[in-house]
Amino acid sequence: MKRVYFDYAATTPVDPRVLTAMTPYFTRVYGNASSINVFGQEAKTSLEDSRKTVAGMMNCEPEELIFTGSATEANNLALKGFAFGSRKEKHIAVSTIEHDCVLNSAKWLEKQGWRITFLPVDKHGLLDLGELENTLRKGVALVSVIHANNEIGTVQPVKKIGELSHEYGVVFHTDAAQSFGKIPIDVKDMNIDLLTANAHKIYGPKGVGALFITKHLKIEPLLHGGGHEFGLRASTENIPSIVGFAKAVELRREEMVIEAKKIDQLSKHLVEEVLTIEKSHLNGHPTQRLPNINNFRFAYIEGEALLLLLNEEGIAASTGSACSSKSLEPSHVLLALGLTPEEVHGSLRVSLGKYNTKDDITYLMEVLPKTVEKLRKISPLSNRKKGE
Ligand SMILES: Cc1ncc(COP(=O)(O)O)c(C=O)c1O
Repeated sequence: MKRVYFDYAATTPVDPRVLTAMTPYFTRVYGNASSINVFGQEAKTSLEDSRKTVAGMMNCEPEELIFTGSATEANNLALKGFAFGSRKEKHIAVSTIEHDCVLNSAKWLEKQGWRITFLPVDKHGLLDLGELENTLRKGVALVSVIHANNEIGTVQPVKKIGELSHEYGVVFHTDAAQSFGKIPIDVKDMNIDLLTANAHKIYGPKGVGALFITKHLKIEPLLHGGGHEFGLRASTENIPSIVGFAKAVELRREEMVIEAKKIDQLSKHLVEEVLTIEKSHLNGHPTQRLPNINNFRFAYIEGEALLLLLNEEGIAASTGSACSSKSLEPSHVLLALGLTPEEVHGSLRVSLGKYNTKDDITYLMEVLPKTVEKLRKISPLSNRKKGE
């Protein structure tokens, strides 16, 4: 059976060049980067070279970047590590469309006595800057706003958000797990104090992430042990994955612009095609969006059923965040846009990557319209509308 992958926002395959770069670090350069012997020193050199590469891609100093086990860990460290190290107002503001790892970290902090403000977004998923400023005026210690949303792809004006936060002396964190390596990021120019990234969304290995922490900010570690990663993340460094992360970044540096252009064209074609289906809509921002994330909704359709039928035809898409796909709760991101639970349940995310072709979209369009029609025929919602 033909198999087509449209779930690049969930994860990407490892680029063969990344795998080649990683391989020697399992069996030949296997020293512990903390050991002073020659094996350890080789590992240490590769660790620091990798740090320079990843830091360079976001324009921070290598000493401002620590490697973590994932973006989830980096987000937990950003919020909780900041809170544990802060002497300021016990108040954090996060947007309503954060990834669960930020939302749940904030909710956990709420149980520890922190006040949490959830910042609203408009119907396209853009942060309400007026509400942000109201919150900043009230006194808040940290603002966390996702750079590009993982379900709808909407890209926030982070430079402006950072600027506003700094006007009020507030620290600004952004989760850039979806945007890092896909669109340009410059933490200095964008007024960012803490930034989360990972490797597996950019053709690197799973299980490795990074947190940028601006020089003058003090955060507390969540993992205590040896003094790894400038004392902020104890654990023997995962050198093969870190080297793989750096190789993925190096490739993005060379190929990001050209690939973004290709994926943007494919996405435009995809959107044009899908919107020919009756009563279909695009969720998220029409233009201020990552080139690879397209989220559609189809009236009178159950997205889970659509997903399963597409899967039977070898088409892998998703209904939203891969992390919450086991839950049947409607997506908090789509609800935050003001969609009804019914509209949310009729949504489908088609996320593209560098191995997609126009033929993949042609195949999707052979299957999707007839599947939508089939589901509408048996949909009680659609029948109810007809009977009205
Ligand atoms: C925006 C965002 N933040 C965080 C994560 C978590 O990344 P990781 O799988 O590295 O923990 C993801 C990935 O699903 C994501 O899309």
